Amino acid sequence: ASAGTALAGRASGVPAVRPVDRPRRLRATSALRGLVSEHRVHPRDLVLPMFVKEGADAPLALGSMPGVVQHTMDSLRRAAVEAAEAGIGGLMLFGVPAVRDAVGTGATEPDGILNAGLRALVEEVGDAVVVMSDLCLDEFTDHGHCGVLDGAGRVDNDATLVRYQDMALAQAATGAHMLGLSGMMDGQVAAVREVLDRDGYTDTSVLAYSAKYSSAFYGPFRDAVESQLQGDRRTYQMDPANRREGLREATLDLAEGADVVMVKPAMSYLDVLADVAEVSPVPVAAYQVSGEYAMIEAAAANGWIDRRRAIEESVLGIKRAGADFVLTYWATELAGWLR
Ligand code: PBG
Repeated sequence: ASAGTALAGRASGVPAVRPVDRPRRLRATSALRGLVSEHRVHPRDLVLPMFVKEGADAPLALGSMPGVVQHTMDSLRRAAVEAAEAGIGGLMLFGVPAVRDAVGTGATEPDGILNAGLRALVEEVGDAVVVMSDLCLDEFTDHGHCGVLDGAGRVDNDATLVRYQDMALAQAATGAHMLGLSGMMDGQVAAVREVLDRDGYTDTSVLAYSAKYSSAFYGPFRDAVESQLQGDRRTYQMDPANRREGLREATLDLAEGADVVMVKPAMSYLDVLADVAEVSPVPVAAYQVSGEYAMIEAAAANGWIDRRRAIEESVLGIKRAGADFVLTYWATELAGWLR
């Protein structure tokens, strides 16, 4: 047989190779693809982070997070109702106080902006949506760190735990359902759990930001909370180089009684998320942070990517990696598309 014969065979429609496995069969129609999809995003899987600013008389747009605002108390209520109507699973509230000091006094005042905002959210959505609080001092300190400082200007872990305990009790008193411990102090979950139980808040749950990395992707968030931070958070947030340590942090938080463990940011840390999801006996969350939001919005605004597809794919990818639910600034909009 000559080369000519083989070519003639192909020309008559007989393929030279016949694949045995043809995964494309299940991709042929939208119905087939839908039937066999391994993961889905449901509105209930989404949590909307929100900002409320003390003394604001109109919602303030954020330049680095197009579409996200610092709310007034009234616009916060309206946005919460809108989010609830879209069917999302939760709201995560951050407060922007008018006054800050060295120990973050505003965080523990019953009528401080965050606690007042939490009360408003609980009043608006009741038990229909999970109301979550950010439990950290960085928005309330004049130096912008997540804890109080010692005489040498270092973040004092154990003194900070006492502040977190007071903050937890003030937040639990608002009726918030889940406290989000985002400060990355050692022992913070156990410290907070202890006082919650002592004071009868046994049903207030703890969402531990377990593997929280020191990330450039928090940039726009720091505008959103008008952060005063000089320097960085590398002595308490994790080194982006470390994968195994993410598992260690989650394991410690589980032992301390965390009800949910979280990995943050999401998209650059999907390996850590997958590791934690593989071993965690409790639900696992992921936070698609401000910089991740800003990147997609900026590229979409330039016409470089399809905005809706990029948003859907990014959140689906986070779920695929192992998240049971996702904190994302697109929660309300995305829930609307999913319905
Ligand atoms: C700390 C906190 C931060 C974020 C959530 N909680 C900022 C930080 O650690 O510097 C970042 C969230 C985001 O970037 O969207 N209170």
